[in-house]
Amino acid sequence: MRDLSGRTAFVTGGNKGIGLGVARGLVGAGMRVCITGRDLESLAASVESLEAAADSPVGDASPVLGEVADVRDPAALEAAVAKTLDRFGAIDVVVANAGVGRFGSVIDLELDAWNEVIDTNLTGVFNTVKATLPALLASSGLLVTIGSLAGANFFAGGSAYNASKFGLAGFSQAIMLDLRERGVRVSTIMPGSVATPFGGREPSPEDAWKLHPDDIAESVLYLARIDERALPSKIEIRPSRPKQR
Ligand SMILES: NC(=O)c1ccc[n+]([C@@H]2O[C@H](COP(=O)([O-])OP(=O)(O)OC[C@H]3O[C@@H](n4cnc5c(N)ncnc54)[C@H](OP(=O)(O)O)[C@@H]3O)[C@@H](O)[C@H]2O)c1
Repeated sequence: MRDLSGRTAFVTGGNKGIGLGVARGLVGAGMRVCITGRDLESLAASVESLEAAADSPVGDASPVLGEVADVRDPAALEAAVAKTLDRFGAIDVVVANAGVGRFGSVIDLELDAWNEVIDTNLTGVFNTVKATLPALLASSGLLVTIGSLAGANFFAGGSAYNASKFGLAGFSQAIMLDLRERGVRVSTIMPGSVATPFGGREPSPEDAWKLHPDDIAESVLYLARIDERALPSKIEIRPSRPKQR
């Protein structure tokens, strides 16, 4: 297993939920991390909590950077990447995690909601890849996209979300083939239900059956630590016991 200490990660949507759990796992492994999101307040709070979790700051500088960047805005992502490179010098691991869900019958689905989901979950990952690719090519790094089992199983009310995550599954596998030729490994993690504030509802004790963000962090750490010769290109991960109905 490779030692990750001193390496740098860039995590979109790292201020909440799965992204924050992944960032915490990476910081715990000694990595420097830039987290992005749109909400400045939770970004600042998350940077503080990650700094507290970090074992050893690099010199006097904090090993954690928080940057406001909407993944639908390529220029904002490029600026966040430039600040990360400026602070840490390289990017070894990218976790394209930011995502939203809008659910309901297509009968009621408005174009604005469709666009928000596709622009964030699919084009937002494309923008993240384009912004980070020069750094990943330079570091022979790892790119992880956070898909969903909704990218393999469709359900009523999921038209926009299913379309975004099925699209992301195809995009991730295609770029995995493009980029392994160039020394960049691409993996997609497709979780089932995870206890996070996804959809605007804070997790409660009723969500105890779900996966925890730490479970996704462990998968990212596994991908980052294994020997470069091996490329698990897709990880499906679901709660061991489904919800009792
Ligand atoms: N929770 C689940 O059951 C589950 C299952 C499978 C897959 N996933 C996927 O996991 C990822 C993370 O979801 P989560 O459960 O952790 O939800 P969450 O707690 O709601 O977190 C979503 C994150 O994405 C960020 N985000 C949303 N839109 C953004 C945008 N336009 N630009 C930049 N950042 C944006 C949010 O930050 P701001 O609010 O600050 O923008 C937040 O950090 C998503 O891709 C989701 O589809 C979740």
